[in-house]
Amino acid sequence: MSDSKLNIVVIGASGHLARTKIYPALFSLYCQGFLPDDFYIAGYARSSMTQATFRERITEKLTCRYSPEGDDCSHNMEAFLGRCCYHAGQYDSGADFSAMANEAGLSPKDNTLFYLAVPPSVFYPVAEAIQDAGLVGHAEDPWTRIVIEKPFGRDRVSSDELTELMGQVFSETQVFRIDHYLGKEVIQNLVVLRFANLIFEPIWNRDYIESVQITWQENKSIEGRGGYFDEVGIIRDVMQNHLLQILALVAMEPPSRLGATHIQDEKVRVLKCISPPGVDEVVTGQFVGTTSDKYTVMGYKDDPTVPDDSNTPTYAATVMHVVNRRWDGVPFLMIAGKGMDASANEIRIQFRDVPANMFRLAGENPSRNALVINVQPDASIYFEIVAKVPGVGMKLDSRLLDLRYASAFNEIIPDAYEDLLLDVINGEKSLFIREDELAASWDVFTPLLKEIEAGGVSPVDYPFGSKSGPEAAAALAERHGMTLTDFQASKDAT
Ligand code: NDP
Ligand code: BG6
Repeated sequence: MSDSKLNIVVIGASGHLARTKIYPALFSLYCQGFLPDDFYIAGYARSSMTQATFRERITEKLTCRYSPEGDDCSHNMEAFLGRCCYHAGQYDSGADFSAMANEAGLSPKDNTLFYLAVPPSVFYPVAEAIQDAGLVGHAEDPWTRIVIEKPFGRDRVSSDELTELMGQVFSETQVFRIDHYLGKEVIQNLVVLRFANLIFEPIWNRDYIESVQITWQENKSIEGRGGYFDEVGIIRDVMQNHLLQILALVAMEPPSRLGATHIQDEKVRVLKCISPPGVDEVVTGQFVGTTSDKYTVMGYKDDPTVPDDSNTPTYAATVMHVVNRRWDGVPFLMIAGKGMDASANEIRIQFRDVPANMFRLAGENPSRNALVINVQPDASIYFEIVAKVPGVGMKLDSRLLDLRYASAFNEIIPDAYEDLLLDVINGEKSLFIREDELAASWDVFTPLLKEIEAGGVSPVDYPFGSKSGPEAAAALAERHGMTLTDFQASKDAT
């Protein structure tokens, strides 16, 4: 760790991401001794707030999980909060950023990290204002770096424009485009699972794999994030980035070497093989409120931060086709939904039937193999195999070869933002999105987004707490020989 002072400026510090992920991750890094001795964290946003209110808000989500058992770590929290301040200002005002820099004591001699935890529409105004305030330094010694959250732009054209504009202020070396799913343990393990185990590569193709299902869902609403979410919708919020990155890691060819360039090269190559889904391959939905004897749950449009006439999808299901020799004909079903019955993110690799299966010929109905990678909530990998049920006679059933992180490893699973923030501080880019990767991802979704926004697809209502979103989603899956996963049922079964 360098001895230089580190200043971190969290822009959008009043928001959800800052409170729930960035400050907790910085606190965890602090508790583990990964921040330099001399650091300062300046929060910046438009909302006016006292220092006490701000500290109270961020304290709520700080945890002591890296402290020895029984230690409430309040001394660590006090020390950490003593390095955190809040400054109110406009996002497009160089003068306001200068005032913040003066109050916070930012100096061009220090390393400075700007974290843009704001909607994409304000990325460039912020970059320009930081530049006007004279706060953009060099790429190295001391460095200035900027972290940009997804979605980067609204489509291919606006993303290219934004890249160009941001490039006028920051060099590519200084820009870290974050997709926090790449920092999740189980996602980082995908390359290890595929390429450090001999058995998977020979069967990882259209001859053995029938379909791939990548499902992401949350059993919560948007929690007052309408200011951000209603501008983007679920496809830009989750599919174009988190889920497409997962697809790329599942489908890419083996990189020739470890390291950012090789892995990113392969991701770009496979992203370019995806044929953009058309409107006949997509279902969108928006969750509505539900009322029972016991409670009333708000719908998307009931959130005070969402316009009453919003047409923004909170659910989408789409089938993607990777047109290359490895995957031709294998459907990749991608699902993302808020307001569902359970929170989960899972990758299901469904294998084909055993040809001329003697058990089937003998009248049994054996199930097929599936490899399931549960990113969350369980962090686990399991393989569904067919086994003989003990007892007289030949009865077959499906059972799991099961690797659960919680029991297989003693280590604490870090939050994705811990790993990624440390990478930014260390200047390590492997888990960040390269410019051409971003362009290739927008190429996959831009035609569909345009058709949706031209009115080609309207979101269908589904009740908050729904098991499988709009009914048409199950029909879409079925058309491609798949069944939607029932996460609540699997949760109840464990
Ligand atoms: P919020 O809606 O909480 O927005 C963050 C802050 O930005 C708000 O507190 C508000 O601050 C300001 N803001 C909100 N809407 C607007 C607007 N329309 N114009 C200008 N400023 C606005 O969103 P999140 O914090 O959830 O998300 C911010 C970014 O982080 C997004 O790009 C999102 O994709 C990304 N992200 C979020 C995650 C999460 O879990 N929340 C996870 C991963 C990424 P003020 O009014 O005080 O200026
Ligand atoms: C963010 C989205 O990128 O990811 C949010 O903007 C979503 O809408 C969040 O809730 C989910 O992240 P995680 O790590 O809680 O699964």
